[in-house]
Amino acid sequence: MVHLKSLPTFAGIPEEELSQLESIIQPETHRAGRVIFRQGEESEAFYIVLAGEVAIVKDEWGGTTLQVLGPGDFFGEMGVVDQAPRCATARAAGDVSLLKVLGTDFRALLARSPSFALRIMATIARRNRENVSLEEREWGGVKSEKVHQGKVTVLCSMTGGSGVSTAACNLGYELARQSGGRVCLVDGSVEFGDLALMLDMVPAATLAHLAQEPVMSLEALERVVLHTDSGVDLLAAPLKPEQADLLTGEFFRQLLPMLRARYDHVIVDTSHGMQEPLPALLEEADRVLYLLTPRLHSLKNARLFLGVLAQMDLSDLPVHFILNGAGGATQSLDTGTIEQSLGVPCYAAIPSEPAAMAEATDRGAILCREEPMREVSRAFAAIARGLIDGKRPPAAERRWPTRPRWLRSLDRGAAAMGL
Ligand SMILES: Nc1ncnc2c1ncn2[C@@H]1O[C@H](COP(=O)(O)OP(=O)(O)OP(=O)(O)O)[C@@H](O)[C@H]1O
Ligand SMILES: [Mg+2]
Repeated sequence: MVHLKSLPTFAGIPEEELSQLESIIQPETHRAGRVIFRQGEESEAFYIVLAGEVAIVKDEWGGTTLQVLGPGDFFGEMGVVDQAPRCATARAAGDVSLLKVLGTDFRALLARSPSFALRIMATIARRNRENVSLEEREWGGVKSEKVHQGKVTVLCSMTGGSGVSTAACNLGYELARQSGGRVCLVDGSVEFGDLALMLDMVPAATLAHLAQEPVMSLEALERVVLHTDSGVDLLAAPLKPEQADLLTGEFFRQLLPMLRARYDHVIVDTSHGMQEPLPALLEEADRVLYLLTPRLHSLKNARLFLGVLAQMDLSDLPVHFILNGAGGATQSLDTGTIEQSLGVPCYAAIPSEPAAMAEATDRGAILCREEPMREVSRAFAAIARGLIDGKRPPAAERRWPTRPRWLRSLDRGAAAMGL
C-alpha cells in the first residue's frame, strides 16, 4: 500500500481524500526510454511519479521537452479531464515507478474530492502558462496546430435520389481501407436517414440520444457511436422523424470539432434541400462533394446551390461536383454541357449500375467491399484516393461518358433556361 501523504505534491490534502485516491491507484514500472503514452493517443489514465523521471515531449516541436517530472509530480491529468487525445508524449527518462489511476476513476474522484480537484486545477493552470511561454519562445509567437485535425467532408445534393447516401457509404469504406485511418460516417439526413439500413446496422442509440445528453463529451459520444464491420464508425440518424428537431445546427457545431479530434475523416450524409442542419454543416466543412445526375433539373439545382453558397459567404468552400449515373439510360446531358454550365470541371464521374447498386443497398452491403473490380467501385476508389492525396482523380479515372448524337437537341433546352 502506497501512502501519498509523504509526497510534497499532496501536502495539505485531507487524509480521507488521499485514502480515496490510494484505493484506486495501480503501480506500474517502465524501463528507461519507454513511451508511457504518445501524443494523439486516447487519454486513458492519470499518473503520479513515485521514483525516477518522466520527460513530457511535444512531438510537433521536433521533440522539444516541455518538462521533466520527478517523484511526487503527476501528469496526464489534462487528457483525462477533457477526454481529448494526448497533447504531448510522456517518456521514461530513466527507469521509473508510477502510480496509475484510470480516467473514469480519476473523474469520479475529482467529483468527490474538492481539495484534490483544486490541486489538479492549479497544476493545469500553471502548466498552461508555462507551455504558452515556451511555445512563444519556440515559434516566435506563432501558434502551432495542437490538436489532431481530421477532415470534414459534407456530401450533399439539392436534388433527391442523386446517390448521396450510396456515395457516403462507399467513400467512407474506401477512405478507411486506403488510408488505414479512422473514419466516421455521420447521418445528417436527420429526418429519414438511411445509413444504418445501408450498413446493415440496427442502432440501439442514435444522434438523437447524443443530443439529449446534458454535456456533449467523449463518453457520451462513445455511448452512441456504432462500430461497423466494414471498418468505419457510424453516428446514425434518429429512428423517428419527429426527433429530427433535436439535431440543430448548434448541435452539429459542437459535434464536428469533437469528431475532427478523434477521426481522420468525417463523412457527413445529408438530405436534399437547404434546410437545417445543412447551413451549419457547410460552415463547419472542409470540403463539399456535390452529387448531381446528368439531367437538366439536377444541373439547374447544382447551379442554384453555388448561388446559395455565395449568399452565405462560403464561395471559398471547395465544392467537388460528382456526376453520378454517368452513361446510364437516363443520361440526357453530356459532361461538356454540364461543366460549361457550372463553370468548373467535374471532379469525377460515377457510372450508372442500377441493378448492382440496388441489390447491394437492399442487402445492407457496400458495393466497393463486395465487388471492388466493378467499374462503379473503381470510380469510388479513385475519388477516395483523390480525397486522401488532395488531388483530383486523373482524367482516365473520371470516365467521362460519351454523348449520344440524338441528345444534342437538349442543348437548346439548356440554353433556354440560361444553363
Ligand atoms: N451510380 C449509380 N448507378 C445506379 N444507381 C445508383 C447509383 N448511385 C445511386 N444509385 C441508386 O439511386 C437510388 C438513390 O440513391 P441514394 O439513396 O444514395 O440517394 P440519396 O441522394 O441519398 O437520396 P435521398 O435524397 O433519398 O437521400 C438508390 O436506389 C441507389 O441504389
Ligand atoms: Mg440519402
